[in-house]
Amino acid sequence: MTRPLHVVVLAAGKGTRMCSRLPKVLQPLGGAPLITHVLERARTLAPQSITVVVGHEAPRVRAAAQAADVRFVEQHEQKGTGHAVHLALAGQDPDSRVLVLYGDVPLVPRADLESCLNASAPLTILGAEVDDPSGYGRLIERPPGHLDRIVEERDADPATRSIRRINTGILCAGARDLLRWLAAGEAEAERRRGEWYLTDVVAEARGEDRPVALLMSTRPEAVLGINDRVQLAAQERLLQSSRAERCMREGLHLSDPARFDLRGSLAFGSDCFIDANVILEGDVRLGEAVTIGPGCRLRDVTVADGAVIDAHSLLESCTVGPGCHVGPFARLRPGARLEAGARIGNFVEMKNAVLGPGAKANHLSYIGDASVGARANIGAGTITCNYDGANKHRTDIGADAFIGSNSALVAPVRVGDSATVGAGTVLTRDAPPERLTLARAPQRTLEGWRRPGKRPRTPGKD
Ligand code: UD1
Ligand code: CA
Repeated sequence: MTRPLHVVVLAAGKGTRMCSRLPKVLQPLGGAPLITHVLERARTLAPQSITVVVGHEAPRVRAAAQAADVRFVEQHEQKGTGHAVHLALAGQDPDSRVLVLYGDVPLVPRADLESCLNASAPLTILGAEVDDPSGYGRLIERPPGHLDRIVEERDADPATRSIRRINTGILCAGARDLLRWLAAGEAEAERRRGEWYLTDVVAEARGEDRPVALLMSTRPEAVLGINDRVQLAAQERLLQSSRAERCMREGLHLSDPARFDLRGSLAFGSDCFIDANVILEGDVRLGEAVTIGPGCRLRDVTVADGAVIDAHSLLESCTVGPGCHVGPFARLRPGARLEAGARIGNFVEMKNAVLGPGAKANHLSYIGDASVGARANIGAGTITCNYDGANKHRTDIGADAFIGSNSALVAPVRVGDSATVGAGTVLTRDAPPERLTLARAPQRTLEGWRRPGKRPRTPGKD
């Protein structure tokens, strides 16, 4: 029978090098906190339990990691990674196997974790060979290929610092052994300014003459811990390029995978095209042959077949029907719904409003708390005045209505089917169907009027 697996996730540190009020494990990567990525990876291993060690800003970290399969252990004082694991193991089945994951190493490949679990040594360490090892613990192999101990950067002499094989922090061992090695390391920790290193377990195991397996990561760039914003940005690029690659392999046409940011989930049909610098957040669903122009941001949006979202448009919590055209420079706010073939043009904002099939608002409008019937045409500069300073009111515009440019529709108000509203109207009462309604001062021309000329200048005066 295989021994039960317990995963321990270290997430109590402050992350001083981030220079942020946000705890490090809550920094966002690909639209989700670092800790979320670590937990996702832990779950793929189907462990018997997951323990997250929290400390700095514990309530916030707990709230982000909260789940039925997660238990929390509080490390009140951050005395080091060894101390954190020691706390996490209290009360755990000593016969279980323990996999330690670091909250700041979010993208560790599943294959690496599986190799760690498949190794049969009493202690397995995941290492990585990197070009720039600075900041990481160095692997001391003696003889080569046999891990003897790990030396932290701050304790390393120049020769040790030049070693390019580093500790990823990820390790696997039996709970009983790990506890014993950790307890032995505590004395050593006291000597060293009170910091209790998890990495000392290697030397302890070797001291007992137990073999230590060293596995080297298959993807060294993905197992580098994130300590500062430079490293955070590097991991973000890594994650985004793998997301872009996955989408392209599934048939998405990306103009430039290096300028694509997927910060949530994306579903798409065949022949969709996404131009440069598009940001997708939350849950985005695209039908077939959808085009998204450059510089758009979509959050929680559904776009149906054949629709075009033109350059620099912002869409949030809305639905765009088949064959619609949105933008450039459009803003669809929550509750906007465009039915088949509707068009929203530049500098048009829509909120909590429905645009019926084939209806258009092509330029410079605000349509809020409104319904617009099929084929209606909203002229440039039309505003639904939905807010009276205290309450919101609705505007209903019938099918085939025509709203002249620069009209203000003062809600609550209705425009009947096939009604025409003259340009510049301030509509305060309902406009009946099929008639022209307009509210504007009559035009006058003053006969005999002349534009004043400049007065002649008086010499000597200014
Ligand atoms: C650690 C390793 C180093 C390794 C590197 C890989 C130790 C002593 N060093 O260094 O060998 O190369 O990670 O990224 O382990 N944490 C706690 N409680 C604490 C201290 C830290 O939970 O008391 C958590 C942090 O929140 C973080 C993780 O442990 O998620 C690692 O801590 P960090 O301080 O970043 O260790 P490094 O200096 O990066
Ligand atoms: Ca770290």
